[in-house]
Amino acid sequence: MPRTYYLTTAIDYVNGRPHLGHAYEKIAADAIARYRRLSGFDVKFLTGTDEHGTKVARAAEAAGLDPQTYVDRLSATFREAWDALDVSYDVFVRTTEERHTRTVQRLLERIRDRGDDLYEGSYEGWYCVGCEAYKPEKDLVDGRCADHPGLEPRWVVEENLFFRLGAYRDALLAHVEAHPEFIRPDSRRNEVLAVLRGGLDDVSVSREGLAWGIPIPFRPGATVYVWFDALANYLTGLDFADGGEDLRFWPADLHLVGKDITRFHCVIWPAMLLAAGLPLPRQVYGHGWVLAAGGQRESKSAGNVTDPVALVATYGPDPLRFFLLKEIPFGKDGEFSRERLEERYNSALANELGNLLSRALNMVEKYRGGIPDPGAAREAAVVDLCDRATIAWRHAMDRHQLDEGIDAAWSIVAALNNLIQAREPWRVAKDPHRAEELSGFLYALCEGVRIAACLLQPFVPRTSLHVLQRIGAAGDYGAPVAETAVWGRLVPGTRVVKGEPLFPRLQPT
Ligand code: ME8
Ligand code: MG
Repeated sequence: MPRTYYLTTAIDYVNGRPHLGHAYEKIAADAIARYRRLSGFDVKFLTGTDEHGTKVARAAEAAGLDPQTYVDRLSATFREAWDALDVSYDVFVRTTEERHTRTVQRLLERIRDRGDDLYEGSYEGWYCVGCEAYKPEKDLVDGRCADHPGLEPRWVVEENLFFRLGAYRDALLAHVEAHPEFIRPDSRRNEVLAVLRGGLDDVSVSREGLAWGIPIPFRPGATVYVWFDALANYLTGLDFADGGEDLRFWPADLHLVGKDITRFHCVIWPAMLLAAGLPLPRQVYGHGWVLAAGGQRESKSAGNVTDPVALVATYGPDPLRFFLLKEIPFGKDGEFSRERLEERYNSALANELGNLLSRALNMVEKYRGGIPDPGAAREAAVVDLCDRATIAWRHAMDRHQLDEGIDAAWSIVAALNNLIQAREPWRVAKDPHRAEELSGFLYALCEGVRIAACLLQPFVPRTSLHVLQRIGAAGDYGAPVAETAVWGRLVPGTRVVKGEPLFPRLQPT
């Protein structure tokens, strides 16, 4: 049996259409999912939409629609965006689905039945609708939430159902300390450690006046606090309420989320799981932010959002995927602008990868009419280069360092371009005594291109498929890298397809 790999993204609030920050997270998760599939894992990749709560109810009201009609429309725009970006999710969870309602209710009942972790209490405090969370006075800056300075926090007084979060503090702290890989990168881990060392207050898990939510079965008139509702989605995707066989995917291998919500995933969620007697996820990775040019965070509240679907319509999915994954060191923040995207498109995709492929195919066609027979000529340096790139790629991808993974694959592209300059195969072709040398060189060039395309699959899947098809290795697409990133698979005599440029150069606008 292959090992399972369960990874999830955050599920997005549908108070607006998908923006580039959402797209970044889904693309990154997709690259990780593809890497794991290529490495032979049985992968389940979950994403979805978070559709309850005050924030969404308000957006529906502002749109003049009843909440269900509103969330149906908005959720579809997320799915369409991920389809346009080739995000290969296996499960899409909507929190207004019936299977999710049952999961949340079962989880709450299970927590209630196992002890006294749910109790009646009264709450008074500031609530930030942007975070959908109560904010301790000490976390407010000039009376505002640091992440949502444009929103006035509300003073809420409620009789609530409370979850005994504070009781899990010692267990959580011990777990985080004993498992350095539980929270990545280290900056996020240190943040969570500081929160835990400062002590935890219990949290309210019911909302009394809010109809737009999941009813609490044993508390008439109350709905489930939206974060408690949303976090349970990771179990909904595995058919938790029905005890389905997909539960073999639990615990999750990776929850990929933004740094603003890492705490919810590293404190409240594991405490909920402990209270329910379920195993904890293996890792929570808090990625950085996509910033607009000039350094401001892209967000609906800031009103500076870029529509990822419009970018795909102009450039195609792969240039956007490539830019976001290559230019933002994984775990850190990075800036996006159309100018920089176009610049990288021309310099990397058109000039380096596109040119390499067309030069290789042109020479193969012109001098040999198909993949040449290398005979005894072995380009040991190229073989070695590809081996080293594959090892570096694996090492980077096992740690989710996606930018380093691209760099590893790209080291082959760059080296082959340099080698063409240095070896001047067009001169070699003029000398009939060097025929074997030329065949060996062209074969190595094609093999290098093939292996680079295999390693680029997680990041630019369409491009990889095109390259593999053109070079006569379409069967390598999607096959385990343990089999494909291996020297010598191209069959001499195979026809290649010169075709159109992979990435036609963009004219400066
Ligand atoms: O937080 N750059 O939803 P959300 C990178 N529903 N990532 C960004 C970003 C940016 N500029 N802006 C947002 C929620 N994100 C909850 C999650 S999970 C059980 C519930 C990321 O729509 C953000 O960090 O506000 C989060 O991981 C995801 O997009 C959804 O954000
Ligand atoms: Mg948010």
